[in-house]
Amino acid sequence: MITTRFCQLSWSVMLCFSLVQGASAAPSPVSYGVETDTFHPVKEQHGMVASVDALATQVGVDILKQGGNAVDAAVAVGFALAVTHPQAGNLGGGGFMMLRTASGRTTAIDFREMAPARASRDMFLDANGNADSKRSLTSHLATGTPGSVAGFALAAQKYGTLPLSRLLAPAIKLARDGFVVNEALADDLNTYGKEVLLAHPNSKAIFFKADGAPYQKGEKLVQKNLAHSLSLIAKQGPDAFYKGAIADQIASEMAANGGLIGKADLAAYRAVERKPVSGSYRGYEVFSMPPPSSGGIHIVQILNILENFDLAKMGFGSADAIQVVAEAEKYAYADRSEYLGDPDFVKVPVQALTSKAYAKSLAQQIDLAKVRPSSEIKPGKLAPYESNQTTHFSVVDSKGNAVAVTYTLNTNFGSGIVAGNSGILMNNEMDDFSAKPGTPNVYGLVGGEANAVQPAKRPLSSMSPTIVAKDGKTWLVTGSPGGSRIITTVLQMVVNSIDFGMNVAEATAAPRFHHQWLPDQLRVEKGFSPDTLRLLETKGQHVKVQPAMGSTQSIMIGPDGMLYGASDPRTVDDLTAGY
Ligand code: GLY
Repeated sequence: MITTRFCQLSWSVMLCFSLVQGASAAPSPVSYGVETDTFHPVKEQHGMVASVDALATQVGVDILKQGGNAVDAAVAVGFALAVTHPQAGNLGGGGFMMLRTASGRTTAIDFREMAPARASRDMFLDANGNADSKRSLTSHLATGTPGSVAGFALAAQKYGTLPLSRLLAPAIKLARDGFVVNEALADDLNTYGKEVLLAHPNSKAIFFKADGAPYQKGEKLVQKNLAHSLSLIAKQGPDAFYKGAIADQIASEMAANGGLIGKADLAAYRAVERKPVSGSYRGYEVFSMPPPSSGGIHIVQILNILENFDLAKMGFGSADAIQVVAEAEKYAYADRSEYLGDPDFVKVPVQALTSKAYAKSLAQQIDLAKVRPSSEIKPGKLAPYESNQTTHFSVVDSKGNAVAVTYTLNTNFGSGIVAGNSGILMNNEMDDFSAKPGTPNVYGLVGGEANAVQPAKRPLSSMSPTIVAKDGKTWLVTGSPGGSRIITTVLQMVVNSIDFGMNVAEATAAPRFHHQWLPDQLRVEKGFSPDTLRLLETKGQHVKVQPAMGSTQSIMIGPDGMLYGASDPRTVDDLTAGY
């Protein structure tokens, strides 16, 4: 079954419905496909995949049908997206996988990029000591040692059931035989692609035709070099990438162009398993990504603050509910700027930041009637201690194993640099370090010493693959791209589902808002009532209507045991499907 492209046509109907719901104190039960639902999820029984690309989703569903488990399917989807969604799908980037097995065991696989050994604290400062974003975004210095191949190989070997070569086969076919370019890729090649890919002959040769134009919707894109690299990994395993012919290509590309990644960096790279950040929210259990992502900590922190307010009673989209959430977000992002970094290098105060007591002390500072300006909010005193340029996919199999993966090249097409003849686009994740404390990165995020560049360190991320459980069973699998907006987008998926009783399609389609402390601005999507926005301005919020945020790909398991999924209507060409 294929997801329907619901737009926000009947939003006003939904808003009225939700406000009536909000009059009761207890959250409404989630409804599944009953006639009062405004948006309808895809419904399947055995297994489901939600991803940003229809071809990749189909690859995952095929693996599930062939008897692969959710990890097998997720790994195959990850490799397929590296071919069909080069904006963010990748071999040359990194990311995170959250896994919850049918037996209730949770784990997190960290395959975030690492700074090369020759990286140094001030490498992105110009002669005047100012942060130079060209260096951290589009030069060969922008690339961290990639982690995706190691991450997928680790996941498949430890939690999958099929050989890696079988999981790579669909991606090899898509790269070797080509695939038909969809609207999303054509649009992105025509905009971001022209900005970052054209400058590099290897990249231009892949994504632009002989006449100099990028591939258009409906045309076939063949990537022979990428097919060869994928085949090498299928034959030799991840060593082909980290020690073999692909490592040679990457190291030569860097050496010839002032980049820092050498063969020793690649050989030393390891994906690592970490304990997820966990919390509780109104009786549900929340599992999300630990550092070097900031996502899990701040989702749990904000939920802990929100537990002190009756959001259901306030109602979805009400000025009071938005005020509470936005103010809570400001405290979380202020703490992020101070305390978060790679846990292998800095002591991140996970317990303190996610404690209910700390959240209560922050909740007491939130005034429903009046905004606290960001300039008055500082990172808290604790007890001792992300354009939608990323991509997320969710998978659930017939046994109830659930996988959420968010991975990225950072900005669209990463650095725009393809390493030699490998066909592999390289990330520009080094921009996620704080180049200079206090200076915003590409997402406007301000960082501190905890996230300064250091050799072999992983840059701080906002990617938040998240799994919510209810009564000991997986209930919601979700995540999103969106840079700094990832945390608040995933947060709203959880709050919309739990507090406002929305089904997964409704929770996805509902208009979103975002506050990240600095800049002191409440960013909102179209779709909120002008009256609500005026009320928020009266409270002191600086409201700005801006383009859509995030592209969630989510699966909810209903009380009937059925799988309900939704791809984000903000994105074209994404697909939720199952069997
Ligand atoms: N590159 C965006 C993030 O990791 O948050």
